[in-house]
Amino acid sequence: MKLEEKTEELRKIKEEVVNFKDSPLYADRIKNKVYPVIGEGSHDAEIMFIGEAPGKNEAATGRPFFGAAGKILTKMLEEVGISREDVYITNIVKDRPPQNRDPLPDEIEAYGPFLDRQIDIIQPKVLATLGRFSMQYIMSKFGLEFEILPISQMHGKSFEAKASYGKITIIPFYHPAASIYNQHLRSVLQEDFKILRDYVKK
Ligand code: URA
Repeated sequence: MKLEEKTEELRKIKEEVVNFKDSPLYADRIKNKVYPVIGEGSHDAEIMFIGEAPGKNEAATGRPFFGAAGKILTKMLEEVGISREDVYITNIVKDRPPQNRDPLPDEIEAYGPFLDRQIDIIQPKVLATLGRFSMQYIMSKFGLEFEILPISQMHGKSFEAKASYGKITIIPFYHPAASIYNQHLRSVLQEDFKILRDYVKK
């Protein structure tokens, strides 16, 4: 797919999410006067980061990973020589769950198809999951549910899978938010991110 077509297809997704009145989170979005968060970055990205759901800052701006966790993500990327503009960053759930609670299964089910389409449009070589929800969703989507273990045993490892458009690599990472007050996890995340250097265009 040409870049312009990708951009057009992604625009359609945005329009659908904006008008997704059947979503279990739609009423909250309207009540709180906040935005859905679709995703941002390169439409030709080799690496797609998949988080959980927007937090407060993200819902206020409509931009993914725009608060404290986002600062960490941007810094981690810079440290391995990757710029935020060269990757695509999104979440499974596109609207903010109240009080930052974990996304519920019906919310993941409702928004999952938008993520599936984003993957098929952008066609990244690497799906970098952030946190256990996106890890579980992506591993299951690609038929690797039998490989799922606690994230403490999966982070930083790569799993080969087959997408509709070819071979892909799934790499689970800890969620950057988990490393805000945990220096150990921060170092683990930093170390794990080094694997991404192998997947950027040289
Ligand atoms: N946490 C997420 O999972 N996604 C965001 O966009 C921000 C925080």
